[in-house]
Amino acid sequence: MAGIAHVVSLRHLLVLSLALNVSLILRDINQNEKHQSGAPMAVHKGTKASQLRFLSFPSESAAAHETNPSVDEHGGQRVINLDHGDPTMYEQYWKAMGDKTTIVIPGWQSMSYFSAGKNLCWFLEPELATQIVRLHKVAGNAVTEGRHIVVGTGSSQLFLAALYALSPQDSSNPISVVSTAPYYSSYPLMTDCVKSGLHKWAGDAKQFDKDEPYIELVTSPNNPDGFIRHSVVNRTGGILIHDLAYYWPQYTPISAPSDYDLTMFTVSKSTGHAGTRIGWALVKDVEVAKRMVKFIELNTIGVSKDSQLRAAKVLEVVSDSSEQAGGSEYPESFFHFSHALMTERWRLLREAVKDSGLFSLPKFSPAHCSFFDNNLGTQPAFSWLRCDGDDVDDCESFFRGHKILVRGGKHFGVSPKYVRVSMLDREETYNLFIERLSQISS
Ligand SMILES: Cc1ncc(COP(=O)(O)O)c(C=O)c1O
Repeated sequence: MAGIAHVVSLRHLLVLSLALNVSLILRDINQNEKHQSGAPMAVHKGTKASQLRFLSFPSESAAAHETNPSVDEHGGQRVINLDHGDPTMYEQYWKAMGDKTTIVIPGWQSMSYFSAGKNLCWFLEPELATQIVRLHKVAGNAVTEGRHIVVGTGSSQLFLAALYALSPQDSSNPISVVSTAPYYSSYPLMTDCVKSGLHKWAGDAKQFDKDEPYIELVTSPNNPDGFIRHSVVNRTGGILIHDLAYYWPQYTPISAPSDYDLTMFTVSKSTGHAGTRIGWALVKDVEVAKRMVKFIELNTIGVSKDSQLRAAKVLEVVSDSSEQAGGSEYPESFFHFSHALMTERWRLLREAVKDSGLFSLPKFSPAHCSFFDNNLGTQPAFSWLRCDGDDVDDCESFFRGHKILVRGGKHFGVSPKYVRVSMLDREETYNLFIERLSQISS
């Protein structure tokens, strides 16, 4: 047994050393290329612009494919599906992390419905609560003091729980739910899914002119267009839900810790673990938190403990990697890695769009990021493309004609001239998208 352990650890060391060497070589190549192209750089906390250095993990696609990835099994043009925001891009980092996030759950563990802690949210695993608070401190993106943490099966469940908790229970009419267009395409569908008597979708917040109570959903940075958002209705009787799924350093400069009444986060977009289905809400009002807990109790009698423990380990490693970045355990922090990758993807996209002359993209002003302690741009999880040509009314169909699946503007409450494109897919798919976009333009 000891012999096997020895061989395994030697093999691990060899693989790690190879990965590190390739990584260091790539870093130098990257640095030269990026300096020459003038691309924005990824940064460590506190690093001044003059000292920036790249450190990227080896590319996945280089060795992965001997066959032509642009061709399907019948020899036709492959369909590129960037409709969903499936965050598979992050697999690359977690593969390189090896066993750091591996957890073992014996058969007798996590059997009870109940969690051990004394939390108001009786199914919240104490270790997950600890790691959520820690990660928000590390990232600097949310105040957790004076908040109740409510865990959910993804932030999707928390969204429904929040609507339930915030809707007046004794009103004869359902409360209006609004969000500024373009809004996340699931909001109208989820709000009206069960045709509840408690709440109803009322569309674009900018058009809302009723003199009655309302719930406004504020998504910041926004899905689909990536802009920082604030509430717009600002009338008495208004209740706000802040969906901050993308308020993490790889997507947007962290300007200040968020400090709202009800804020939702998710591992789906922060670490890429969408399949783990864990989200959390930070809730100021104890009665609202209790009602959200009640909803989840009625809905799923709690949230998978196995998933919570896995999420806790992943968050722990993200925090460790940030605090120990540059050391032997963590040559590169998770946020540094993902920021660098997003920077590069946006550089490639902007280049392809500029060359084409057929599309346009939103422009973002740089802002100070407290996490990286630097002035940085915005690089959203989705690109919000406009088909500029007068002959293209339906941008989604236009892309479908080129075998690229994206989501059209009408799903987000705006013109079909726009489409949303996921920026979070695997490297091979993303590179294929850029290649095909460049071919459209030529
Ligand atoms: C703004 C926003 N909120 C919530 C979600 C859902 O996240 P979860 O996977 O945690 O349910 C998404 C997913 O795309 C999203 O874009």
